[in-house]
Amino acid sequence: MIRKLTATALTMLVASFGSAAGVLAAGGKGHVEDVAFPFEGPFGTYDKLQLQRGLKVYTEVCAACHGLKYVPFRALSEPGGPELSEDWVRAFAAQFEVPDDSDEAEPGDTRPAKPSDHFPPSADPNAPDLSLMAKARAGFHGPEGTGLNQLFRGIGGPEYIYSLLVGYTGEEKEEAGTTFYENKAFASGWISMPPPLFGEDVEFDDGSPNDLHAEAEDLAAFLMWAAEPKMAARKKAGFVGVLMLVILASLLYLTNKTLWAPVKKQAKEAMKKG
Ligand code: HEC
Repeated sequence: MIRKLTATALTMLVASFGSAAGVLAAGGKGHVEDVAFPFEGPFGTYDKLQLQRGLKVYTEVCAACHGLKYVPFRALSEPGGPELSEDWVRAFAAQFEVPDDSDEAEPGDTRPAKPSDHFPPSADPNAPDLSLMAKARAGFHGPEGTGLNQLFRGIGGPEYIYSLLVGYTGEEKEEAGTTFYENKAFASGWISMPPPLFGEDVEFDDGSPNDLHAEAEDLAAFLMWAAEPKMAARKKAGFVGVLMLVILASLLYLTNKTLWAPVKKQAKEAMKKG
């Protein structure tokens, strides 16, 4: 019985890796490519320089239409994220205007944002907020994905965003006055978002490559951080938890052995006699 169960478990394990190696599908429709992000795996962490580059792409390109309304500016200086200095974040936030909530303000007044404020919401009502997008579109979920797959290869959300940004074929069509662009990653195949990135859209301060694929990868990493800023802390807590359980299990095993040792000895002697 045990052997049979082990064999089944092993087959499932192999199958889960096998399917991951093939083409990864978002909900079985769009084409999602696998990307080896530094934050994947049980010990993966964010690369702060990559997050800083992604923030730049977001600010200079995506923010024209999209919002990040659940992300406070101050998160940009917290450990485990882009780790920008507090002064930098204060100056960055001040570029954005938010509704003035002071007592003297008239309705409709605005003031420069402070680090405690959040990124502005979407400017284009048709463009969804991107704060949680990396988790909302987890590409390896559903029947194709298994828990193990997600543990070792990531949840697939940033891969979906990457694939979406590099997935335009160049075909366009017009329907009821709206232009749609063909995209291999988008579930229906046609998206109303015009291709936002072409390569060399931004210049990175650290001199990193700024071709389309590099920009899309950095941006996808940034949106993953936006959706889960405390990933490293969560993984660490999980690891400590497992470590404690292993120690506890070994102690229990040894205690059990010690406690029953005299009884076993008696039983053996009784067997010899009888
Ligand atoms: C010109 C405005 C505009 C810009 C600039 C723009 N987007 Fe979009 N985006 C849209 C619109 C509109 C939609 C909704 C498309 C639809 O549902 O057909 C959308 C949808 C999306 C989606 C959701 C796709 C889905 O699965 O529903 C993602 C992810 C996204 N955009 C990412 C980005 C990123 C990343 C950037 C910057 C590199 C960007 N967008 C720049 C307008 C824009």
